[in-house]
Amino acid sequence: MSCQQDIVLNQLPSQRARAMLRKMTLMEKLGQLAQVSGNYGDISDELRHSIQQGRVSSIINEVDVKVVNELQRIATKESRLGIPLLIGRDVIHGFKTIFPIPLGQAATWCTKTVQDGARVAAIEAASQGVNWTFAPMIDITRDPRWGRIAESLGEDPFLCAHLGAAMVKGFQTESLNNTSAIASCAKHFAGYGYSESGRDYNFANISENELHNTVFPPFKLAAHTGVATFMTSFSDLNGIPGSGNSWLTQDILREQWNFAGFVVSDWDSIKELQVHGFTEDDKHSACVAANAGVDMEMASSCYSRYLPELVAQNAVHSDKIDEMALRILELKYALGLFDNPYTESEDFVDMVNKVHLRKALDTATKSCVLLKNNSTDEHRRYTPQCTASKILPLDASKINNLAVIGPLADDGYEQLGTWIFDGEEQHSITCKAAFQNKLKSAATLSFVKGLETSRDESSAQFEQALTIAKAADAAILVLGEESILSGEAHCRTNLDLPGAQIQLIEKIATTNTPIILVVMAGRPLTLAPIIDKVDAILYAWHPGTMGGQAIADLIFGDAVPSGKLPVTFPRVVGQIPIYYGQKHGGRPASNNTFVHQNDFPVRASQTSLGMSSTHIDTHYSPLFPFGFGLSFADIAYSPVEVDSHYLSKSNDKSKVITATVTLKNKSDFDAEEVVQMYIRDLVSSATRPVKELKGFKRVKIEAGRNKTVSFELTANDLGFYGPQNKFIVEVGKFRIWIGPNSEVNDYQEVELIS
Ligand code: NOJ
Repeated sequence: MSCQQDIVLNQLPSQRARAMLRKMTLMEKLGQLAQVSGNYGDISDELRHSIQQGRVSSIINEVDVKVVNELQRIATKESRLGIPLLIGRDVIHGFKTIFPIPLGQAATWCTKTVQDGARVAAIEAASQGVNWTFAPMIDITRDPRWGRIAESLGEDPFLCAHLGAAMVKGFQTESLNNTSAIASCAKHFAGYGYSESGRDYNFANISENELHNTVFPPFKLAAHTGVATFMTSFSDLNGIPGSGNSWLTQDILREQWNFAGFVVSDWDSIKELQVHGFTEDDKHSACVAANAGVDMEMASSCYSRYLPELVAQNAVHSDKIDEMALRILELKYALGLFDNPYTESEDFVDMVNKVHLRKALDTATKSCVLLKNNSTDEHRRYTPQCTASKILPLDASKINNLAVIGPLADDGYEQLGTWIFDGEEQHSITCKAAFQNKLKSAATLSFVKGLETSRDESSAQFEQALTIAKAADAAILVLGEESILSGEAHCRTNLDLPGAQIQLIEKIATTNTPIILVVMAGRPLTLAPIIDKVDAILYAWHPGTMGGQAIADLIFGDAVPSGKLPVTFPRVVGQIPIYYGQKHGGRPASNNTFVHQNDFPVRASQTSLGMSSTHIDTHYSPLFPFGFGLSFADIAYSPVEVDSHYLSKSNDKSKVITATVTLKNKSDFDAEEVVQMYIRDLVSSATRPVKELKGFKRVKIEAGRNKTVSFELTANDLGFYGPQNKFIVEVGKFRIWIGPNSEVNDYQEVELIS
């Protein structure tokens, strides 16, 4: 390497980008704002020509490494300035080794696990020339009807923020210049997860206060973690669609959060500004989006067609174009693409290797949530201490005949879930295959699908299923949703198990055979209709490549369940939105005031019953609360203790309250437990949720042992965005809970003093 090259390489990406910008024509700068679709394994003459002309900055959806390298060669050798390409791909929960869907990963409540998953995904994607992914998706959502809840990290801003930041770190590593680092993208900014009625692409009306307190925190942390890019939302937020929302992109993202990366639109979402009724035509859309701060246009071509004349007319200032192009160039320099745009796949480990599979297995194991293990009594729902005879784990040595039933029991594709462009079912370990391996050699596994798909309405196979169930020591039903029933644009109004799955369960429940229900799904389903008909429920989400193995390990006791719900499970769809962090209200629901409509006396007077915030036809509580998940271990929590009941509001960061619990594992199972800390601000100038997650730790706790777990709270942790939408820390009383889920009762009261 020459001395001159050394000097250039030692310059910061931003200096090199500025130097490059000075050499560029307006048309070349505009070229940096364009992302176009690849030709899926081919390079059309048109694409080649556009790259040669410097009119393309990024390609989306090209993953053949030979083609990617050729695209980079064209860009760097055949265009005037040799600017390399960003190669973007949706690597949402794995590339070839598929991890659980993000909502499942969130159920691990483990930043390390989530970071490791993103790392594996990045290594595999980078080996094919991908250098930019459109993840993490950190839209808070409280609506399981929304198909994209599968891609989300759940309902809670604190959990989502920390897991989202972990994903960013996993994709990007400590330096984007690392060969296997890929740039990540925080999406969809903002409010997409609140789409009205859970219908995709729908508008959302969200107060500014709610945006600051609930929707923004994951995005803010992603920005502070160094996420390279942001993606705007398709949706209309309070009347302004995401790709035309300068308040979001300029005021919040750049000015308040100092985000220095670039913003990409969602697919066609600049063009769609006109469809929203927000702009007149494509030219107007280009003008609005560019002035709003959207740097790169994905898929549509409003920028490339109209920015030249908009700049000539000074409707978009040329300085603005410089800033936009500069940010994109900076990322290309930071990724090291100018120094080496090519990918040598041989430099990478094989995809779907043993280490990657082991990580996928670990994540899937931690993500499965045991919702029921023979305890049907409503009042014992959340007390793992309840020792009513438990069906799980199954003892393989005692099983001579196992019935496996269900359309998802042996389907390597459907267990992978939504957004798996590159995943291949051939690597999947299905439940049936994994169960078979657990059984002793003399035992029989009988399998009947029962239904052809999760949507199948036919009962044609029910008798066969009944026959094998009757003859079995245990029946494992693997039901739920096929992949295509969740994900983008796949929203549902009825969240019961689809097709004739409920009837199938009812049929099998006519036997005396214990039933273990495994649910694979992209969202919380309403399980109330079947909860009393089965002995155990293991909620596996769409668990990915190693899903069957993880489920078998858990069912047969080679692993102990430890997943906890990252989202509240409603009893019925009519309860939606239902989430743990609701406001108290003036007439909160309580068992003292709740009267079910079936218990109303005939002609009861209007004000004689209830008068609290409930629905009269279902209990006001969820079926399973946020944070809930059973273990095989009986883990008892001591009352929470605090080291002080007072905390000074001073800025001294060393001032903390330490809250502590001791866990006692009263069982023979070594286990992992997700310990959760919640607070409530009792009196505030803008009302606060009844509980707010402020800390979580996944800890190992051996059989028969105790473990002390502590959390620290600073005054800042007790702050919030107040009535003027400014962050404030108010003196007053707070409650602190530490427990196994959001319905923990025992608390300490502390006071923040001036
Ligand atoms: C549309 C989706 O909304 C977004 O999440 C995704 O990254 C882009 N398409 C690119 O595929």
